[in-house]
Amino acid sequence: MRDQNRVPLLEALSVWSKRDPISYHVPGHKNGAIIPAMEQAEEVFKHVMAIDATELTGLDDLHDAYGVIKEAEELASELYGSAQTRFLVGGSTAGNLAMMMAVCQQGDTVFIQKNCHKSIINGLRLTKAKPVFISPEMEHRSQVATGITVGSLKEAIRIYPEARTLVLTNPNYYGMSVEIEKVIALAHEHHLTVIVDEAHGAHFGKSGYFPKSSIAHGADLVVHSAHKTLPAMTMGAYLHVVNEDYRSKVNDYLQILQSSSPSYPIMASLDLARYHLSSLTHEQLTQIVSEVDWFKKSLNHIDGVTVIDHATSSVSTIDPLKVTVQVKGLSGFQLADELEQESIFPELADSLNVLLVLPLAPKQENYKKTIQVFKEIALKSRTNPVISYNIEIDKEISTPAYSFEELEKMSKREIEVKEAIGKISAKAVIPYPPGIPVVMPGERFTSKHVKFLLNVLSEGGHVQGMMGNTITIALEEE
Ligand SMILES: Cc1ncc(COP(=O)(O)O)c(C=O)c1O
Repeated sequence: MRDQNRVPLLEALSVWSKRDPISYHVPGHKNGAIIPAMEQAEEVFKHVMAIDATELTGLDDLHDAYGVIKEAEELASELYGSAQTRFLVGGSTAGNLAMMMAVCQQGDTVFIQKNCHKSIINGLRLTKAKPVFISPEMEHRSQVATGITVGSLKEAIRIYPEARTLVLTNPNYYGMSVEIEKVIALAHEHHLTVIVDEAHGAHFGKSGYFPKSSIAHGADLVVHSAHKTLPAMTMGAYLHVVNEDYRSKVNDYLQILQSSSPSYPIMASLDLARYHLSSLTHEQLTQIVSEVDWFKKSLNHIDGVTVIDHATSSVSTIDPLKVTVQVKGLSGFQLADELEQESIFPELADSLNVLLVLPLAPKQENYKKTIQVFKEIALKSRTNPVISYNIEIDKEISTPAYSFEELEKMSKREIEVKEAIGKISAKAVIPYPPGIPVVMPGERFTSKHVKFLLNVLSEGGHVQGMMGNTITIALEEE
């Protein structure tokens, strides 16, 4: 067992910085000595620039780690139970690309959970693998897309027995998971390599308070955006190699995809975030979770406020740190506006919901103020007409009619969505909610897709990949 109380990279940076070093090397701010004389610049940048180092003696090299970065990565690997954990300075985005490139070859058939992040789609573009999209389930009260089921995966395997890889997104943005353990087990029975984008679950697996991580379920490669739920700087993430077979390819692609000048503040914050997670005691976790529980219950007790919780929803687990909340008479967008006017900034809003991401720390005084603000908003909106939004999605296993390469060569045109039946989509078209792409790039619009999109628009939904009522199509040869 290593000493999880150590933060080797942060310690090395602070020892180096205390030497008052004279810099004749990059970066040009010379350890924060040159900060342009602008109001607030010094105050903001002085401390962070003091540790914004480069690959100096004793500070190791991310791409060929042998010293303090290696030690910091090994501490993270031990904590998460991986064979190897790598620090990412380009977010889970870089991790998803590296995982896809390490596993998929050109022409391979790859199962993709359809409500994936765009970095997975970009991974497909780069690898030239052939995607088979599997539609996820929906959580009905929030109307958001969740995860895929064993039944859908079985059906996909029956139709495409040649597939060798499964790419999952777990949990969804709202912290919801659907039978992930069983899905991974089934995939392994059929010799599929399992990649999990667990960007929102960097704290998973910590004691019994949070859902288990996909690492514990035996996924082969897993990515965590440490910056999303742990106290790490934006862009800081971990890539966990569970299956040793992919270690060297992952390392190779990471040095292609990540900067050759990775940020030391980001890497040190990853070291610190791992320390934070490992150091949380049972008492602190109990306090965090009971405060969260109290916060959610208090919100739910306000007349007109609904918190989507595990007991009343159709998913297997919901991350306690995520609060999906609705206020009667307000769309999610309107609710977010109201909250922001009171200087409360949620993570996101959609047509129905607002999502709050709670901190992984006890003693949250902010919860009381937030409850008060919700009471005032709910009271004001009580007489507004109720917003109803009821979208039925078709569960599909689908493949694009054209590959990304073919699509790139085709001319594009904007047309009204009502004219799209039979046409090829040039983009992913994603209504929120439910956040499931109706079509992916290269897929053909059916009458059902068009009807669905028109319905979403008429219900006041927001659709990514559309401009008003228009979509972008790729023109086929006559
Ligand atoms: C499911 C999912 N995967 C990956 C990403 C990308 O993560 P990052 O911002 O760390 O690059 C996001 C970002 O929101 C996400 O929601």
